[in-house]
Amino acid sequence: MFQLIDKLEKNNQLTKDEFIYLLSNFNQDVSKYLFDKARNISQKFFGNKIYVRGLIEFTNFCINDCFYCGIRKSNKNCDRYRLTKEQILDCCKKGYELGFRTFVLQGGEDLKYRHDDMIDIISTIRQEFPDCAITLSIGERTYDEYLKYFEAGADRYLLRHESANFDHFNKLHTKNQSLDKRKECLFNLKKIGYQVGTGFMVGSPFQTFETLAEDLLFIHELKPEMIGIGPFIPHKDTPFKNFSPGRLDLTLFLIGVLRLMIPNALIPATTALGTIDPKGRELGILAGANVVMPNLSPVEVRNKYLLYNGKICTGEEAAECRMCLQNRMKSIGYELVVDRGDFKPLEALA
Ligand code: 5AD
Ligand code: FES
Repeated sequence: MFQLIDKLEKNNQLTKDEFIYLLSNFNQDVSKYLFDKARNISQKFFGNKIYVRGLIEFTNFCINDCFYCGIRKSNKNCDRYRLTKEQILDCCKKGYELGFRTFVLQGGEDLKYRHDDMIDIISTIRQEFPDCAITLSIGERTYDEYLKYFEAGADRYLLRHESANFDHFNKLHTKNQSLDKRKECLFNLKKIGYQVGTGFMVGSPFQTFETLAEDLLFIHELKPEMIGIGPFIPHKDTPFKNFSPGRLDLTLFLIGVLRLMIPNALIPATTALGTIDPKGRELGILAGANVVMPNLSPVEVRNKYLLYNGKICTGEEAAECRMCLQNRMKSIGYELVVDRGDFKPLEALA
């Protein structure tokens, strides 16, 4: 197994069978070997710097009904909200003062915001915060819509593929969603020129080591600039309420694997990771992640954007998440930086 990790480091890639073998058989020693390598790579390219993204959860309305997600359309217990343009700009203003230079606008697939509203919001942020990156995370749209958002000033887009295995993807979603469509969106985003993020949940229902290996192969094919993974965590008002959460050790191991696959990728230690373990995000950084995403949403709505139960960061002040993460990172020898934190080619980093 140690040789497989050496091989992965050298080639940034393994075969499907090799990935399956590694994921099903790794132990603590192998993890340590992997994390040391992953951390060294991060250190070499990013030093002890951790990039920060201010997450603005601006709507929890959604037309989709993903079986895992707490804001799915059919969840009648979800208290729906939509932030106004002014509220969103206010989040950005507070964020800017706190040192954020990337704003992530994340929401359900909310048709009320289609076209003009989004373009208006994006172009206003672009004008008022010219030195900041704008990341969108608003699901599947047409090529033309993606293009218009890009032209309005959006720089990056997060759209997890969720599973690169067709059967598995279909077990997580209703019939109106498809893996083909998802992949098409991701390749469209790349073509337009966005820095693209994809990813998946670890331990989602019906996931196997084989589907995970397929996720890794898909990531190798797409070559995303950003890769977000976190453990699946059940939400009580979803069809998956009785499934177990994803494993911490496996999530961390996969972060290490992804760092070796795409050495210069931006990989967050996610909120879900911090939710299944109080030190989850610190462990994520020590396994090779280099990004954190403090919550910048208005405090009044934070406990309404619940994709899963037990979500952390729902009761804090706007400034608190950043401070909290700053201290957490400091405790393991890392520092948050005031920087857009763009993806850079390897040549530019070396
Ligand atoms: N547990 C963990 N992650 C979840 N997501 C959605 N629901 C859950 C859940 N129950 C993730 C999905 C989505 C991202 C925004 O949050 O992967 O792409
Ligand atoms: Fe939000 Fe710690 S990061 S409370």
